[in-house]
This record gives sequence, C-alpha cells and structure tokens, in this order.
Amino acid sequence: MTTATIPATTELRAAGQARPEAQSAIARRPLAAVTGAEIQAPLIQGGHVRYANLDYGASAPALSVVSAYLNEILPFYASVHRGAGYASQISTSVYENARTIVRDFVGGRPDDAVIFTRNTTDSLNLLAGCLPVVDGVHTGDVLYLDIEHHANLLPWQSVPHRSVIAAPTLAGTLELLRGELAHGGVSLLAVTGASNVTGEVLPIRALAALAHEYGARIVVDAAQLAPHRRIDIAADDVDYLAFSGHKLYAPFGAGVLVGRPDWLDAGTPHLAGGGAVQDARIDTVSWTAGPARHEGGSPNVLGAATLARATQVIADLDVDQWHAHENAIRSYLVEGLARIDGVSVHQIFSDSASFDAPADQGPRVGAGTGPIGVVNFSLEGYDAGLVAAYLSAEHGIGLRDGRFCAHPLLRRLGLPSGSLRASFGLGSRLEDAQRLLTALQQLRQTGLGWDYVVDAGRWVPANDTRTYPHWAPNTPGTAGAAPCTLD
Ligand SMILES: Cc1ncc(COP(=O)(O)O)c(C=O)c1O
Repeated sequence: MTTATIPATTELRAAGQARPEAQSAIARRPLAAVTGAEIQAPLIQGGHVRYANLDYGASAPALSVVSAYLNEILPFYASVHRGAGYASQISTSVYENARTIVRDFVGGRPDDAVIFTRNTTDSLNLLAGCLPVVDGVHTGDVLYLDIEHHANLLPWQSVPHRSVIAAPTLAGTLELLRGELAHGGVSLLAVTGASNVTGEVLPIRALAALAHEYGARIVVDAAQLAPHRRIDIAADDVDYLAFSGHKLYAPFGAGVLVGRPDWLDAGTPHLAGGGAVQDARIDTVSWTAGPARHEGGSPNVLGAATLARATQVIADLDVDQWHAHENAIRSYLVEGLARIDGVSVHQIFSDSASFDAPADQGPRVGAGTGPIGVVNFSLEGYDAGLVAAYLSAEHGIGLRDGRFCAHPLLRRLGLPSGSLRASFGLGSRLEDAQRLLTALQQLRQTGLGWDYVVDAGRWVPANDTRTYPHWAPNTPGTAGAAPCTLD
C-alpha cells in the first residue's frame, strides 16, 4: 500500500493549503486555550520541559472554556429526569438542552435523535443493535472498508456484514463500494469521516449519495472528523453520525449518536434499566421511544453538557483561521519529516487531497479539503514504540505509536508492528512540531541518549527514577502495552 515518502506535501500544496511561510504566524500560538497547556514533563536525564502534546487524536485536552463551564454547572449537579428539586430541574434542563446544541452543531434534521453515550464505540454498538430486523432476520448487510478503526469494524462483525478492501485511490474505492452496493442487500454503509491513522478525509457527501442510490443508509464515524471540520448531516444527507467528547475537547465521559429516529425507536434498548421504560412489570416491559430508550440508568449530565459546550466553541471558530492554524502545523511537520533521513509518511489514498466528486456531491467537509491534523510516519531502523519512548523520556513529547486500533489497515499498509502518529488541534503550536522534528533529527544523528528496555510489552527507559504525582502511582510502562498499541 501507499507508504510513500512524503507525497502528502505536494498534494497539500496542490490543494492550496501549504504555504507554511505565510501561514506559520497563525500557528505560533494555540488557537484556543486548553487546560493543562503548560504542564511540565520530567525528563529522564533530569529537568523538566513543557509537555508537547501531539496526541490530540487519541484524547484532546479540555478547552479552558469547557473546564470553566464544568466548574460553573458543577454546584447544580443533581439527578436528571428524576427529581422535582431545583438542582434536579437545572440538571435536567442542561442535559436536554445539550441535545439541541449538539443537533445544531452537526446540522441535524429537526426530528433526528440525539442519544448520549459513553463514546463513539458505544454509539456504533448502539446502532448495531438497532439495525432493522424482520421476523428475527436482519433486512440487509452492513458494508464497511478495511481502513476503519475497530470501533467502526467490530460492532458490524456480529451482524450480517460485508467488507471491502479499499483501493489505492478514493475514486477507485467509491467504485468498489458501488459494485458491492449494486449487488443489493446492503442496509447500512459504515464509514469513517477521517482516518484516525493518516488523517485523510473521506468524501462523505458522495458516499451518502452512493449509499442512498442503492437503498442503503450511511453512518459516519466522526470521532476524528468532528474536531477538525464543520459537519452538516442534513446537507450531506448523512443518516447517522457518531463522535466522542474526549476527542472534542470535552473529556468527561460522553459521546453521542445522532440520526434518524425510526431504527433507533424500534431497536433493542442499548442499556436496559431505569429511564428507558414506559412501564415495567415483574417479567415484562414496554420500552419508551426517543433517546431515553437507549440511555438506561442515570445519565452523564456533566459529560453531555461539556460536550455540548465544546461544540459551541468549535461552532464559533472562524473556519479559515481554524484550518489555517492546523494546516500550517501539518505542512511544517510533513515538510520537516521529508528532510529527515529514513522517515516515511504514510497515507492510504493517493488522491485524498485532490479527490473530485461529481459537482452535486462535491466536498463539503469531505475529501479534497486536505487531511486533518494527523501525520503518520515511521523512522527506518527504529521500532515505533522505542521512538515514542525516546520522545517522551528525553524530550517531553507525547504522541501515539502502535496500530491505532486499526489492525487490518496497518497490516495492509505493511506496518504490522505499527508506526507513529503525531496529532494536533486547537491548543497546539508550531513549536510542538518543531520540537518533534528536532528530536527526530537528533535521534538520527546521535542515537538514543539513554538505555531502553521492554517492560510488559512496551519500551520504557531503563532505571527510570522520575517521580510522578502521588495520585498517579503507576509510572509509565508499568501498565503494560495497551491492546491497540501492540496487540
Ligand atoms: C476514527 C475513530 N473512530 C472511533 C474511535 C473510538 O473512539 P472512542 O474510543 O472514543 O470510542 C476512535 C478513537 O481513536 C477513532 O479515532
């Protein structure tokens, strides 16, 4: 597959986005304040340095506005939907109002359901339980690509499904999907809005048109898209959309599924329990319709409220500034990586930055608008986990290594043991990318400055005597390798 050495830069330029000289000024500062922007990371050789967070794609820091909002509403925290008290009524109002805010943020139709969940994974599992069934048999298959995050792949494996190995181009991939849809019998096309591995954006408007042409619906996994692009599901004719608060600057445990209510109102309740019923007897129940059907138990009002607050901040961003900030960092990083010996930048599709959908299905947020703030790369001769450990221990830089919960794709890209991913967003600055490039240059020129060992499946510095806050007793590495890292 495409493991091209930096074609991405040229493509960005072709898309008219990469003039780092002109744009870098905007990226010298964060575009928005985030909580924890100045935390100091201890270095293995002594001293501290400002933590360079290049791992937004995994979990983004809370926007300062969101943290402040959390503190503002916290005193009013009380039960939702369950109390006549003043605080309960305020909490209920905040929770229900969060649905409207989120619906507006994604350009939802007036009757779209907005269901709060734990995260994207939860949202997609919920939808998997709501696929139409007649006489106990699913009415169609779920169709998906091999480039998906496990959250948009594994839930479909337990229902009738078909998978397609993406072509080297988006244009070719659309044709493959068309061929599969034309066979008939597909009820749902499940596709990511932006790859969590490479940051490439998919043409969701064109994909929605394609699915509908063959009588299928579409769900977009917007876990990566929502923090980086304006979304308008009504305009793009997307049926369902899922994303997570913790990637959208609201890391307080909520996610969301937005979409057409009919399947959701008829589907199996996602969490059987209090709040999800109209009436329950000792051994029978009649379930309620609407979001409550799937939100059994006490809802995460603070998670939902902060998620909604974050969407308001993002909705208020000037789109040009927003994209210029991110593109400047991305271009700078990609160009810098090209100058380092032995670095390869990975991408899935050779046409993702220039993809041209038919005029009536042209990109709104989709492909052709360039990749989001995610850059995936490898350094020849070095295990990705070792590079990540080095960057953290010797330079105070946090990024992601491994297989990104996208094992089929990584295998196909020829990266069975993983790669590195730098990702950034509103709180990032050019200096973060500069520090990464300097650290990688140093690694190339002088090698590691410390010994590293494998502990519980992860590379860690040997003889690490750094201390951590008393409330974080597990030092890095002792928790072992996460399933999505090495597994
Ligand atoms: C594209 C994509 N989809 C889904 C997920 C799963 O998100 P969560 O862990 O919040 O459920 C992720 C997380 O990395 C992702 O990047």
